[in-house]
Amino acid sequence: MNITIVGTGYVGLVTGTTLAEMGNSVYCVDIDEKKVEGMKQGIVPIYEPNLEEMFLRNIQANRLFFTTNLKEALDKSEVIYLALPTPPGEDGSADLSYVLKVAGDIGAMMTEYKVVVNKSTVPVGTADKVRETIAAKTDIPFDVVSNPEFLREGFAVEDSMNPARVVVGASSQKARDIMADIYQPFTNTGVPIIFMDEKSSELTKYAANSFLAVKITFMNEIANYCEKVGADVDKVRLGMGSDDRIGHRFLFPGIGYGGSCFPKDVKALIKSGKQEDFNFKILEATESVNQQQKVILVSEIEKYFDGILTGKKIAVWGLAFKANTDDIREASSLDNIKILLEKGAEIVAYDAIAEENVRKILGDKISYAKDMYSALDGADCLFIATEWPEFKNPNFKMMAERMNHRAIFDGRNMFPLELPESNGFFYKSIGRRT
Ligand code: UGA
Repeated sequence: MNITIVGTGYVGLVTGTTLAEMGNSVYCVDIDEKKVEGMKQGIVPIYEPNLEEMFLRNIQANRLFFTTNLKEALDKSEVIYLALPTPPGEDGSADLSYVLKVAGDIGAMMTEYKVVVNKSTVPVGTADKVRETIAAKTDIPFDVVSNPEFLREGFAVEDSMNPARVVVGASSQKARDIMADIYQPFTNTGVPIIFMDEKSSELTKYAANSFLAVKITFMNEIANYCEKVGADVDKVRLGMGSDDRIGHRFLFPGIGYGGSCFPKDVKALIKSGKQEDFNFKILEATESVNQQQKVILVSEIEKYFDGILTGKKIAVWGLAFKANTDDIREASSLDNIKILLEKGAEIVAYDAIAEENVRKILGDKISYAKDMYSALDGADCLFIATEWPEFKNPNFKMMAERMNHRAIFDGRNMFPLELPESNGFFYKSIGRRT
């Protein structure tokens, strides 16, 4: 099948590459000429494990193309995926201007039947708005489908090649049949495809992300309570997760959830609720608990230094909002660094992948180390903000030799308690005894 993907951000690029890998001819459209030129030459514009290999393979196989010309791609394709940004407006609601602009362009340019598939995370009712926008520009028949994306950054290729399910919101049988054809290589291997109406499909995406945000936040509150009563959240987590109604995944406590999805989607669902006079009390509580959780270790660092952080040198391991990505949007590291700087501390950060993005925001307000150990030279403590695998089994002796004080504040529960402690470190993590 010939497919157009409009928008080569995270979701668009991975979806396009995956669909090409399944044997389709995929035309990726973007307005950013420089980016399109780069992609034509084989440059992957995002950091994502295993993507480059699949991307290059499909370019070479003549199944993956890039262009700034929407009309050219549209004329070749029966199915057009919209993978456009829906950033939060000032009030937290999703800004649909990119989606609706392209919908209008499609309406104006199409010359035969098309299926327009919305992959972006959009509020309930957006499929209707897209439909109205296209219909205002053409009399040619078309269908609008909602097909939310559930991939995680850092596991994008893995998740898109092995999805837990495919959700398709479509009211027309013709569109359902076309979507069933596209996803046949997946359903063939047992992946369920769940058909529903467009609104339910749009809400499924928000409900799934918000539920996971609640799950993490619930565990963060349990972790904080563990500290009050002397329980160990790692044990509680294992005990709870073994019940398959709960499951082990997304039960890891830490310094809050970040990234480009959970914070934005929780806010947007709260906002959509308000528009219908509906209060998502659980989500409001989740948001406020998460805000506190992100910086929960700052007061512990202050306590350790008797309230005085002026002139203290703090090493930060990890800047990305989670491991395996260069994304720093809503990263807890940034909230912590901001407060620590305000309190007079000096920050030396290390993150091999996300450093470049942080430099664009913080510039020389902090310094950057070339490796994890040199970040520790003369440091008064270490703060761990991201669970990069390279931090999992460090050489504690070498760390101790380089640091001024042996103190670790770990926002990701990277080590068994006895490991840093047996090497003479003060070790504060989340939901476990100090
Ligand atoms: C999330 C969802 O997991 C995807 O299914 C969804 O498609 C995506 O949003 C999206 O809407 O595009 P992502 O933002 O890439 O994916 O990252 P996650 O792996 O879900 O992590 C989100 C945040 O939760 C991170 O800050 C992570 O550190 C935190 N987290 C995750 C925890 O604190 N504890 C956990 O147990 C799991």
